[in-house]
Amino acid sequence: MFGLSAPAVSAELPPPLKQDDFIAFDSKQAALGQLLFYDKILSGNRNIACATCHHPSLGTGDRLSLGIGEGGEGLGLQRSAGTGDSRIKKRIPRNAPGLWNLGAKELHVLFHDGRLSIADTFENGFNSPAEEWLPTGFNSLLAAQAVFPVTAQFEMAGNPKENEVAGAIYDRIDNAWPILAKRVRIIPEYGRLFVEAFDHIDAPEEVTIVEIANALAAFQAVEWQSFDSPFDAYLGGDETALGPAQKRGLELFYGKAGCSSCHSGKLLSDQKFHALGLPPFGPGRTRSFDPMVRDVGVMGETDRLEDAYGFRTPMLRNVELTAPYGHNGAYPTLEGIIRHHLDPDGMLKAWKPETAALPQAPWLEAIDFVVWNDAREMARQARFRDIEPLSLSNAEIADLVAFLKSLTGSQSVTSPPFGIPATVPSGLPVDR
Ligand code: HEC
Ligand code: HEC
Repeated sequence: MFGLSAPAVSAELPPPLKQDDFIAFDSKQAALGQLLFYDKILSGNRNIACATCHHPSLGTGDRLSLGIGEGGEGLGLQRSAGTGDSRIKKRIPRNAPGLWNLGAKELHVLFHDGRLSIADTFENGFNSPAEEWLPTGFNSLLAAQAVFPVTAQFEMAGNPKENEVAGAIYDRIDNAWPILAKRVRIIPEYGRLFVEAFDHIDAPEEVTIVEIANALAAFQAVEWQSFDSPFDAYLGGDETALGPAQKRGLELFYGKAGCSSCHSGKLLSDQKFHALGLPPFGPGRTRSFDPMVRDVGVMGETDRLEDAYGFRTPMLRNVELTAPYGHNGAYPTLEGIIRHHLDPDGMLKAWKPETAALPQAPWLEAIDFVVWNDAREMARQARFRDIEPLSLSNAEIADLVAFLKSLTGSQSVTSPPFGIPATVPSGLPVDR
């Protein structure tokens, strides 16, 4: 290139994302995983499915800043915090992320704080909250992830004394998995499907949580693979795939706005952790010996002070569909989260608690904004910033938004391979 058309893009564009970049999963296992993903049988009180918080009609998230786990009722913005004895006792501390492209081979860390990663710390392939109690035999990182929501008290397991799953976890995390596996395999249709889908399973009695997790992973990975966006077409060589505003946004993203220094590579994430100083709220992820209701992010995992308040750089395909944004869903729009990157302190000052999408739960109000109202903790958080303020014009911010919208795919968004099942083998109601 030369003369007037000299490239404004200073960072290299990534190579296109291709089918080869994804782990190949078994399609029978994926079909079985579809039923499990939508089946409330995997929750202690049989009242919530994976899909309740990761719904395809809600971009594979739940549209809420902080979600409502077991005990709540309804879906998305209509979800309520429940009533009577079963009402929720705590909000879910972080935003439910979208599940796009989680079967990518190069993905090595999951969760906003990276508490699950591929590593040999415990000689079972993964560094996870279950440490040496994590079973072996998972087909992927994504499969190892699937055993955690079912053991989380406020997500799916429920409270001790309410059901046999929650009671078992209270003793030790791995006690709950055999109970859940049995619940599933004694349903004749599930038993048959497991025998058909897994070569090493000859009878339903042999099904463990590992096969359940492998099926769930196969389903999520196959269902929500997305690399057919206009941006992907552009990377593939189709110069006409992006409109003028999207092209200007791309030039900013890979140029002076510096976005690609963190949202880098094929997946648009460095899979590393950075402190952006989002407005804090919610119950936090309280650590033992920490009196504060706060979320220290990846430091909770590494125990290194320099990691305080750092969260994983999200991948960005289909980001248009997964509002609200950030690890706690602090910003309802793409423009808002971009402006926060550009001016964290200014945006923090201007942020209003009403901005958060939090279903009403008056009995939790005292906790919701404890940190936000704590001047000393807010000052502490302000000392950790891994991003340089940058001044962009309103037109440039609009171009960045246009570019982010060019990351929206089509096939897996509008007609994914499996979709929502009409019914599930347990006979429990399916969220739709
Ligand atoms: C109550 C809502 C809720 C339910 C139910 C739920 N999840 Fe999630 N999910 C979340 C939240 C919140 C996070 C982020 C947690 C964190 O990072 O600390 C998450 C994270 C994930 C991730 C990691 C994504 C990433 O990019 O790191 C995957 C995969 C996932 N969930 C799959 C599942 C599966 C499979 C099930 C069912 C077995 C399930 N979820 C049930 C709310 C939920
Ligand atoms: C220093 C690294 C870094 C840079 C530079 C950066 N980001 Fe981010 N971005 C992050 C991290 C980390 C998060 C998540 C923060 C959190 O959850 O607390 C994030 C979140 C986002 C989100 C929200 C995604 C979601 O699913 O919630 C969008 C959109 C985004 N960034 C776009 C951009 C754009 C556009 C630029 C350039 C103007 C940019 N980022 C520059 C690290 C970075």
